Amino acid sequence: MAAGPLGEPAAPGRRGHDRLRGRRSPSPPRCRHATSQNPTYYHINPRRSSAAGLVPPHPCGPRSPTSGPGTGTPHYFQLVQSSPTAPSPGDAVVVRGLTRRFGAAVVVDRVDLAVPHAAVFGLLGPNGAGKTTLIKMLITLLAPSEGTATIAGCDVRTRPAQVRRLVGYVPQLLSADGALTAEENLVVFARLYHIPRAQRRARIADALASVGLAGSATKLVRDFSGGMVRRLEIIQSMLHRPPVLFLDEPTIGLDPAARHDIWAELRQVNATEQTTLFITTHDMEEADALCQQVAIMHRGRVIAQGTPGELKARVGPDANLDDVFIALTGGGTQGVEEGGFGAAGRARRTARRLG
Ligand SMILES: Nc1ncnc2c1ncn2[C@@H]1O[C@H](COP(=O)(O)OP(=O)(O)OP(=O)(O)O)[C@@H](O)[C@H]1O
Ligand SMILES: [Mg+2]
Repeated sequence: MAAGPLGEPAAPGRRGHDRLRGRRSPSPPRCRHATSQNPTYYHINPRRSSAAGLVPPHPCGPRSPTSGPGTGTPHYFQLVQSSPTAPSPGDAVVVRGLTRRFGAAVVVDRVDLAVPHAAVFGLLGPNGAGKTTLIKMLITLLAPSEGTATIAGCDVRTRPAQVRRLVGYVPQLLSADGALTAEENLVVFARLYHIPRAQRRARIADALASVGLAGSATKLVRDFSGGMVRRLEIIQSMLHRPPVLFLDEPTIGLDPAARHDIWAELRQVNATEQTTLFITTHDMEEADALCQQVAIMHRGRVIAQGTPGELKARVGPDANLDDVFIALTGGGTQGVEEGGFGAAGRARRTARRLG
């Protein structure tokens, strides 16, 4: 499923935004979701300086030890503890105590996160850490067991239909239909999102052109390269112009050139439309290149968050994000040890499909 419309009607077009043409009207309107408590949704530029730095640790501190003797995790965890960001009005994503259990297994464990509007946020962690499960709760594909999450102030539990209009989703597994052409894939999606018929053709043409796929519009997707499929899925997920885009391993299996193309496209979307990007990746170079803030998830918990620079500086003067990842997660063996085998297998199959 690509950026799943989830059977919900599309949001009305966002006046003041024309993502695919890269234009903005001079005076963006207040979002219809604005309230007296939160008057700044989306359309007033809220790119905040706080997006660039760590905020002070949560006054309550972690609820349970994540490192040190008896916890099975390395002592140097204590060097980089989780520092949950304090939510602010206008944050694109706010997560508080979010938990998901599958039977007795706690896969996402009391996660706290706040992602400012227009930020590029990276969620990192070993296979099986719970990243995809967390995203699925944020886009309402999975119900939380406990806790709350809001997308632009809309609660995923109580206002799922509104949340689905506010998000785009590029899933970890390939989702475009290989038996259809690129254009047909987009038409299906435009219909599911109730994009007005009069706008569909132009919007689809613009979307294809924006990622260099105009010449491939009528080709079957099964004949596309992995990079072309991923680009198609990205424009598909944005066709209804969501303010928050979730990308689960957007460049998995791609060659360096295709990866850089996708990075450029994501930067463009973020810069021109102020779309909030919530990305998971195992590619630390990608996280460093794209993300203003990252969080590292391990065994269902967020164990560290901050800017890439902050996290690197805490591990060592010459550390890169690979070093941070290994230091914090002990080399990422969780997938094999704790039931992530299936997830690792899925990732490998995805990589093979992407060729
Ligand atoms: N529907 C499900 N039923 C039972 N267990 C599940 C289900 N979905 C995920 N899990 C388990 O939850 C854990 C977290 O999986 P998840 O896919 O969220 O990890 P991930 O961090 O995205 O991993 P990867 O990096 O490999 O994609 C894994 O142990 C997985 O087997
Ligand atoms: Mg995953």
